[in-house]
Amino acid sequence: MVVADSVKSQPISIPKGVFCEKVVSVEHYTDRLFMFRITRPTSFRFRSGEFVMIGLPNAERPIYRAYSIACPSWDDELEFYSIKVPDGPLTKDLQKIKIGDAILMRPKPTGTLVNDALIDGTNLYLFSTGTGIAPFASVIRDPETYEKFEKIILTHTCRQVAELEYGKKLYDLTLDDPLVGDEAKIQLKYYPTVTQEEFATSGRVTDLVQSGKLFADLGLPELDPASDRGMICGSMGFLKDMKNILLDRGFVEGSNSSPADFVVERAFVG
Ligand code: A2P
Repeated sequence: MVVADSVKSQPISIPKGVFCEKVVSVEHYTDRLFMFRITRPTSFRFRSGEFVMIGLPNAERPIYRAYSIACPSWDDELEFYSIKVPDGPLTKDLQKIKIGDAILMRPKPTGTLVNDALIDGTNLYLFSTGTGIAPFASVIRDPETYEKFEKIILTHTCRQVAELEYGKKLYDLTLDDPLVGDEAKIQLKYYPTVTQEEFATSGRVTDLVQSGKLFADLGLPELDPASDRGMICGSMGFLKDMKNILLDRGFVEGSNSSPADFVVERAFVG
């Protein structure tokens, strides 16, 4: 198949086996963050929390990057939440997309931030920074999450208050969700924190976990591998620090083939 390139206006061929979808909406939140939705191939299935490889048809050998799918698995469209990096190999062009533009998507979703990679527990902690909240946009709208855990705690740490907008809207939407809204109103807790501006909860979530403030604020006991499970997604430094906190407290890292207490995945950058 040949399509007109949306960015450089030169026709290129679509690699065999790759989906070529259309942008259906774009929303910019800050000069560093935006969301876009694309049409969903009818044959495409994924598990909540998985990612796919996304590219633009603007080169003979398109550049692909991993993007967490930020919508529930029953959605008619697919949603992605992205950073904008001025010199990023993909996002320098991706941030300019408009409704109707073509997006390439490799057909196989994958990832470890899935319910299947965790053993049963009482509380599920979803720890995120920046665009690392994206996979959790899917996980918190999956009915299985509410069946498997009594409480779901979504933490989101950003530099600025404006960077929380996507997560705040997501939380509000989830409370009104026709499928999981009733459960979410009781079981879902949202804990945003801001590090570089004044905010009700300030500081890195790692520090708020270590000091115990997060648990005091939420009225929950300290982290305990006997009852708690975790998913971690964000920057490399955050993954390392948050993972070490859980390891220090006796949590065991899991995977699809070996489910355990917590799972980790890097948020896309570039
Ligand atoms: P900070 O402002 O203190 O660096 P970024 O936009 O750089 O990905 O960061 C997103 C958020 O993640 C920021 O609030 C940042 O805090 C926080 N962050 C960065 N590194 C870590 C870390 N190692 N542990 C916890 N939070 C972190």
